[in-house]
Amino acid sequence: MNSLRGRHFLSLQDFTPTEIAALLHFAGELKQRQKKGESHPLLAGKTLGMIFQKPSTRTRVSFEVGMWQLGGYALFLSSQELQMGRGEPIKDTAAVLSRYVDGIMIRTFNHSEVEELAFYASVPVINGLTDLLHPCQALADLLTVEERLGKLAGLKLAYTGDGNNVAHSLLLGCSKMGMNIAVAGPRPYWPLPEITAKARENAAASGGSVLITEDPLEAVKEADVIYTDVWASMGKEAEKMERKKIFAPYQVNDNLVKAARPGALVMHCLPAYRGEEITTEVLEGEQSVVPEQAENRLHAQKSLMALLMG
Ligand code: CP
Ligand code: NVA
Repeated sequence: MNSLRGRHFLSLQDFTPTEIAALLHFAGELKQRQKKGESHPLLAGKTLGMIFQKPSTRTRVSFEVGMWQLGGYALFLSSQELQMGRGEPIKDTAAVLSRYVDGIMIRTFNHSEVEELAFYASVPVINGLTDLLHPCQALADLLTVEERLGKLAGLKLAYTGDGNNVAHSLLLGCSKMGMNIAVAGPRPYWPLPEITAKARENAAASGGSVLITEDPLEAVKEADVIYTDVWASMGKEAEKMERKKIFAPYQVNDNLVKAARPGALVMHCLPAYRGEEITTEVLEGEQSVVPEQAENRLHAQKSLMALLMG
């Protein structure tokens, strides 16, 4: 029985650890089938509408290619070209698109817009990033860690920098899967308290733990994975200069990597600003699994689409 069919994917918080494990397991299977050249047209004849209100490289390409590999079709809908960009209500967009497509992926600013779209859509809605969350990224990241280290529960992931959408989804995803997550950043940029509270509840149930600190060395101590993301997310570009100064102590560089477990994985969701949140040496160094993370977006989202829309 597939408990995921017909569901929306707005946040990892809406899924049980068993469901997340099933998504990861199936992603691994689809990845193998793809590598072996075995066709797997699980969504033959189905269509995904993709609404983008912000730029994207990985999300757009991985969803589009993923849909193609599953035998379906993906439709790129830029907000500038949609009537939604001229003020057509989300409610009407949701109802109309639901008559044409079998699933909708949306990347936008306000998380409430994705919730509204999901409320009025009669097909699964997938969150392709909001200011609050980036669950597809965290799903691919969990797949990457599990592939590399053979498990999730009991591992420590240290995230340093901005308590943003990526940090939020990692907090929720890691805590669900029994991992120990530590987030280090300047206090005004810590993850939202309501997300941290949910992560703590998840950790209490899963045997994981959550630490939020201002000290990057405390966060990376004994970490199996070091993760960072841009200091100024899409929509925050005006704060870039100010943030560059504030976040400087949280840069992922050789010294910080040395303070973690030997051989700790280095992760970044990309796009990266070399010399800001991460040095070129570390991003491109031996411990970096960044290219795999990007690849795994494809496999994780294929699993997601096949199980939600199949
Ligand atoms: N990591 C990620 O979501 O990248 P894009 O912004 O290129 O989609
Ligand atoms: N936190 C970044 C992630 C980009 C994929 C942003 O929202 O811009």
